[in-house]
Amino acid sequence: MSKPTTANWIEKDRRQLHPVYHPKSHIDPLVVERGEGVWLYTTDGQKILDGMAGLWNVNAGYGNEELARAAYDQMKQLAFTSNFAGMTNLPATLLADKLAGFAYEGLNTTFFASGGSEANDSAFKTARYYWKRKGKPTKTKIIARKGAYHGVTMYATFATGLEKYHTMFGPAIPDFIHIPAPNAYRFDSALQPGETIGQAAARLLEEAILREGAENIAAFIAEPVMGVGGVIVPPDDYFPIIRQICDKYEILLIADEVITGFGRTGEWFALKHWNVKPDILSFAKAITSGYAQLGGIQLSDEIRETIETASEGEAWMHGYTYSGHAMACAVGLKNLEIMERDNYPARARELGKRLLAGLQTLKEFPFVGDVRGLGLVCGVEIVSNKETKTADPALAARIFKAAQARGLRSRPLGAVLAFSPPLAINEEEVDEIVRRLGAAMDGIGQ
Ligand SMILES: Cc1ncc(COP(=O)(O)O)c(C=O)c1O
Repeated sequence: MSKPTTANWIEKDRRQLHPVYHPKSHIDPLVVERGEGVWLYTTDGQKILDGMAGLWNVNAGYGNEELARAAYDQMKQLAFTSNFAGMTNLPATLLADKLAGFAYEGLNTTFFASGGSEANDSAFKTARYYWKRKGKPTKTKIIARKGAYHGVTMYATFATGLEKYHTMFGPAIPDFIHIPAPNAYRFDSALQPGETIGQAAARLLEEAILREGAENIAAFIAEPVMGVGGVIVPPDDYFPIIRQICDKYEILLIADEVITGFGRTGEWFALKHWNVKPDILSFAKAITSGYAQLGGIQLSDEIRETIETASEGEAWMHGYTYSGHAMACAVGLKNLEIMERDNYPARARELGKRLLAGLQTLKEFPFVGDVRGLGLVCGVEIVSNKETKTADPALAARIFKAAQARGLRSRPLGAVLAFSPPLAINEEEVDEIVRRLGAAMDGIGQ
């Protein structure tokens, strides 16, 4: 029998409904057959540098033997067992123990889910639960930010601050409020005299709290570096003020570190850049480098103690079939071992500086308005006019396609091209990202 062609694969693939689907969006997909390091190989013979590490998650790169072996060994021994009602398994126990205090001091309790959306829904439910147990049952609202992406389960959808994710799924779940993010390139709120963008963006949180009433607000959720919303790196003064405001009004701070967790920004967890500690941490993606589906939340000791002292009628009735999945947790443990051994945060710091410096050189193109990043997560914003900063998503889409034709995968997020390569990338491969993107821009410019 002859080998299926790429056209055969695409025909079969039409049986899938792909994420964020529109009939026009998946006409000509890359059919990926194999990966090695930062490289993807397609059925039609293309070799592509994956400048996005899949979806910001394949930090160890593709084809990692150690992770494959960890999954195989655990599957043979025990792939799964219930984590409900008086049972546990060894990898989940070991991983929870390893993670205790690993991200932030005082966050010693982990609840496992299968991904980032489930993690964030778990965070919102836990915040509500916490306040009910504290005798403050009206504290239910969640404040999030415009441009935020928190996932697609029902709560996470409406915590997300990108309207296109809401349009066809309304009515909106009430009690999710959105305030502007501290976007240093295009902050769309007025500054008060002498105010920095970080101070102004934090003030908008305080104003929202006063408007809604602190007695009605459970939590504020933020990605330390906003990802899907366009790789927004906050000014240094933003999160320390946010922490103070949350403390002042008794509001839990949820850090959505689904992208930024496990080294991507040059620290193990990104709020460390600003010496800030959340009350709840959401994680997923890079905990397994995408080799298994795993996410979860970590809780402060104070929240854990509040759960501990509940009466039977107040049990924390939340959990998934795959909470604490044995194989996924074994892969997570092995991945953590690799990340520590190979010092991934330091790699992200050093190689991130190199990537950012390389991308900065592209500012000489008349349509590159802004280049920003922290560690190995960078954004290149495409504009039709540098003076007016008019965003040009159509041109960004053309550059994305031209780069892909040159064997470089990025991700167009509106007018921003995102780069978030595996942390296992080397210096030449970093330079190759810049070279291929530059060549794509040259082609467009002519
Ligand atoms: C910051 C952030 N939170 C949550 C999610 C949702 O995670 P998942 O797709 O695993 O449900 C994502 C996914 O990209 C994300 O970037």
